[in-house]
Amino acid sequence: MYQQIGAPKSNMKKFVLMASACLNVVLVIALCMTAFSGNNLSSPAVSRRAAVTGVTGGILAATRMARAVDPTNIFETNCGACHQGGGNNIITGHTLSKTAMEQYLDGGWNKEAIEYQIRNGKGPMPAWEGVLSEEEIKAMTDWVYEQSTTAFKDIN
Ligand code: HEC
Repeated sequence: MYQQIGAPKSNMKKFVLMASACLNVVLVIALCMTAFSGNNLSSPAVSRRAAVTGVTGGILAATRMARAVDPTNIFETNCGACHQGGGNNIITGHTLSKTAMEQYLDGGWNKEAIEYQIRNGKGPMPAWEGVLSEEEIKAMTDWVYEQSTTAFKDIN
């Protein structure tokens, strides 16, 4: 169950890397075509350098994207099934709004309590410790806390 929920996340990283790799191939082909077509002002050497720069940049960007913790993405992948739009499909009312958390979250509405529940779960909610990385748990805590007074403020 936990594995199933966790799986799409790593697939996503692979997808980003794959997509970037494909883009790089397209870029190289495009730049090579430019380099070897006669009616072009820039010399092939310049274009080749541009191709190399483009590829290196693309790989670096892809690595950064795959590594960066994206809370919105983590939320949609792992939490969205039960907390779609910040709500709660399993237990009505136990949403991610500040007012709901003040009422239902053990320890009240604060980051420690949010982090505790993400790590340990509660009732039907699974524990995410060991499923999400430490960095991801921290990022989710901050993000949920933030959303609870903004996007999820009026979800009930
Ligand atoms: C399988 C369904 C399920 C998934 C997946 C899930 N939750 Fe929950 N979550 C619940 C349920 C049910 C509750 C209410 C528990 C209770 O109060 O008894 C809850 C409550 C919460 C609360 C407290 C809300 C309140 O009003 O008390 C937070 C914060 C929370 N979840 C965050 C998350 C985060 C972040 C994720 C993803 C990493 C996540 N949940 C994934 C089912 C889920």
